[in-house]
Amino acid sequence: MGVAFYPGSFDPFHLGHLDIVEQAVGMFGELVIGVMHNPAKPSGMFTADERADLIRQSTTHLGKAVCVEKFSGLTVDAAASITASFIVKSARTTSDFETEQQMAQTNRAATGIDTVLLFSSPEHQFITSTYIRQFAQHKGTMRTKVAPQCVLEALAKKNS
Ligand code: PNS
Repeated sequence: MGVAFYPGSFDPFHLGHLDIVEQAVGMFGELVIGVMHNPAKPSGMFTADERADLIRQSTTHLGKAVCVEKFSGLTVDAAASITASFIVKSARTTSDFETEQQMAQTNRAATGIDTVLLFSSPEHQFITSTYIRQFAQHKGTMRTKVAPQCVLEALAKKNS
């Protein structure tokens, strides 16, 4: 089926993302995770290098099936540069769905590349990087695990 490309901000990478990565690896065999790096817009919490490193640590169990790269500019250009067969995205809510539908249709109209939309397991559906950052910034505690251990430790360190 060829390599697939999973782009995102991943600030930070969480269990919903990991769920999608594991599904995509099962489907495509090989996945490149693209960490969006916008030099003009500083990241919310972690630098692109930190985000990429945390994803690498969180996906070691998947071995060579996963590769993590930073990218800037258009997702379709980054996907083309690795000759990806598909873009992988996910949607949690209906508003996510509408945004993803528009992006998928735009990317298809522009280049012909198709997007495969995956859904996380229900127990991961509520997880968002935005709320993880807000809890961490205010030292809020969560009784449910929402991110890989290395990410939770990096969040605690960043906000100590
Ligand atoms: O994790 P996010 O923030 O939802 O990821 C969004 C991302 C980076 C995948 C999206 O913003 C994107 O594709 N950005 C690259 C710019 C681009 O290709 N824009 C045209 C979209 S049709």
